[in-house]
Amino acid sequence: MNSNTTCTLGEFLVATQSEFPYAKGELSALLSSIRLAGKVVNREINKAGIADILGDAGAENIQGEAQMKLDVYADETFTKALRNRGEVCGLASEEHEDFIAFQDNIHANATYVVLMDPLDGSSNIDVNVSVGTIFSIYRRITPVGTPVQLEDFLQPGSKQVAAGYIVYGSSTMLVFTTGHGVNGFTLDPSIGVFILSHPNMQCPPYGNIYSINEGNYVHFPEGVKKYIKYCQELDTASNRPYTSRYIGSLVSDFHRNLIKGGVYIYPTGTKSPKGKLRLLYECNPLAFLIEQAGGKASNGLQRIMDIKPESLHERAPYFVGSTQMVEEAEEFMRKYPS
Ligand code: AHG
Ligand code: MN
Ligand code: MN
Repeated sequence: MNSNTTCTLGEFLVATQSEFPYAKGELSALLSSIRLAGKVVNREINKAGIADILGDAGAENIQGEAQMKLDVYADETFTKALRNRGEVCGLASEEHEDFIAFQDNIHANATYVVLMDPLDGSSNIDVNVSVGTIFSIYRRITPVGTPVQLEDFLQPGSKQVAAGYIVYGSSTMLVFTTGHGVNGFTLDPSIGVFILSHPNMQCPPYGNIYSINEGNYVHFPEGVKKYIKYCQELDTASNRPYTSRYIGSLVSDFHRNLIKGGVYIYPTGTKSPKGKLRLLYECNPLAFLIEQAGGKASNGLQRIMDIKPESLHERAPYFVGSTQMVEEAEEFMRKYPS
């Protein structure tokens, strides 16, 4: 692709379709559905301050967390966009206990399942801080034409065929991978088109940002406590002390560290014994992206994408970002097992 010319996401999808010889354009069409839903959700988020859409929807999601109105809106919008086309046979969302099987005639030949966190960082909506959407795409493993099964969703992250996120920030970006590197597109809101702004994104192997909710310090495992202290020590040769940055929207924290270099950690703790982040909706898609950008994602001891999921909403401790920094943190986890 000529880097001197403007390339829209639509053009990019057409131009790169040949990377999937067996896919006959379905994956591109699926990503187009996500692009469309992303624009609709973006419009709604942009007017969140003026529309009567702020605040609690009055329900709790299945993990007992307060559900914001925009969580519901984003969930419905992405579900509708994916259901309206024929590429997807099933969807699992952070907002629903069970997966949804799409079984209309148009889905009869569908080969893909999608897992998503429709609105990530929802506690930040009311205060005008960036939020996001995360998606993960797999080929089904049960026979085409039969109803999709739980096993189609419980595949290790290494089986993903595509993954990405939308960050609704000071500008809105869609960043995705199909296993051929990572590309970022920025929405031009005046014409409603995503433009390739960050081709072939690479995560620096080393950075100077560490991102963790230090308010939970007393609950952390020993290795993480020791690693935090290491981040704060003076050592000019290794750029320490690192700077601390934590937004509280995983997508936004991840996006910043992907570009600038850094490590994001959400460990286990006495408050969240299995970690807080969801393996299927949050950890795996961002792990696919970071590896494609040259970075690393682990649970502190093991590659995230090698974990065989046992349930849809399972959680995992998460260490993600610049390769050398994740490895540094892993060393502490091995040295101080708790
Ligand atoms: P969600 O809004 O989808 O429930 O995700 C919230 C997650 C993630 O975005 C963020 O990094 C993390 O929760 C923040 O948790 P703490 O407030 O415990 O730091
Ligand atoms: Mn989330
Ligand atoms: Mn969410």
